Amino acid sequence: MNAPHPGSRPASRAWQSSFEVDAWQSYLSGLKRHWGGPLYREVVREANEAPAPTVAALEHHMQTSPAYRLYAFLERRIQQMKWSGRWGFSTEVARQKDRLAPLLAEASGLVHLELDPDLKVPAYIANTETHQQPGGLWREPVNAYALAWYTTGLSFALSDPDALVDFYAERIAERLNELELEPHAILDQGCTAGRSTRAIKRALPQAEVYGCDVCVGSLQLGALRTVEEHTPVTLVQCSADDLSFPDASLDVVASHWLWHELPPEVIRQTIREAARVLRPGGLLVAYDMFEAIGGTVGRWLLSGYAARNNEPYAHTLLEFDWRDELARAGFCDIQARYGLPQDPGPERPATLPPQRLHPMTFVSAVRRGRAF
Ligand SMILES: C[S@@+](CC[C@H](N)C(=O)[O-])C[C@H]1O[C@@H](n2cnc3c(N)ncnc32)[C@H](O)[C@@H]1O
Repeated sequence: MNAPHPGSRPASRAWQSSFEVDAWQSYLSGLKRHWGGPLYREVVREANEAPAPTVAALEHHMQTSPAYRLYAFLERRIQQMKWSGRWGFSTEVARQKDRLAPLLAEASGLVHLELDPDLKVPAYIANTETHQQPGGLWREPVNAYALAWYTTGLSFALSDPDALVDFYAERIAERLNELELEPHAILDQGCTAGRSTRAIKRALPQAEVYGCDVCVGSLQLGALRTVEEHTPVTLVQCSADDLSFPDASLDVVASHWLWHELPPEVIRQTIREAARVLRPGGLLVAYDMFEAIGGTVGRWLLSGYAARNNEPYAHTLLEFDWRDELARAGFCDIQARYGLPQDPGPERPATLPPQRLHPMTFVSAVRRGRAF
């Protein structure tokens, strides 16, 4: 039986759950806690003792470890089970599509949503089912509901997604304060449904805050949520490497968890676009998985994650020379600060933490020229 729970919900959370879906998803959360806790610690212990100086040698050596084989299997399969199968979020949203699609479509009339019907989803997105989500975020607008539902549970990083975006927004406010910059206009790139965008608005309420993304369903969902949460931000459909904002019109261009989804040449163009739209003295921020911690073992875990969770550019971001690229595009005062809400730094730890977390680094740089 699949009886919906009673009660009315706001339009951006209008999916109907059932006892079976909740039970299945909480079973998977428990399994994930085991995966990211005791199982991960055993894999790290064995890998640290392995006589393997490179990522490739470590992968070869660990192929015979039962703990690693289970860890790698669960890393891929738990994620698939969250989305797909009888009680998966994507399966449920597809079942409820006739009710959810019109709710999303209503967002299109909202003044704080600017859609571009001619925008083509980039091939690097359309060719990958990112995070193993069936159809990604792009194939159907209602897929945005599946991601939003998924994000109400335990995230892949075993961390609270609201804590991460608040941490990101507070670091932006802190950096602006250090630079004595009073921001008027801020862009949050790769905003999905605007979670990170609204966090910036909460931290810097005096600024005009924009979010941009290429996937229409997420932007529509974000526009609904913006109304529900009374947090006025504007969501715009455009690509980070081809922005619809005029030259020197923004004080901050920021992103939370965007760059690891971009091929290196797209990051390069994204940096050039940020340099174009920022005023001289303006701030660029990217909070992402720039650096692995824990040496070869940390790099090996991150590259395995990239392959197993369909995030191919999480691996190439580790090789991307962002300091050099930012300097060449006209940025100075380039800083990197390792940190997570659970483990805020500022020092980058030498060893891996006792549970599986994404290693996040807050990179910032100032657009060369006279301050605004
Ligand atoms: C991991 S999500 C970001 C999460 C979001 N910032 C948050 O904190 O909730 C990455 C997002 O980047 C978007 N994206 C990928 N390539 C993009 C591009 N070239 N321009 C703008 N958005 C892009 C994807 O559609 C996706 O919504």
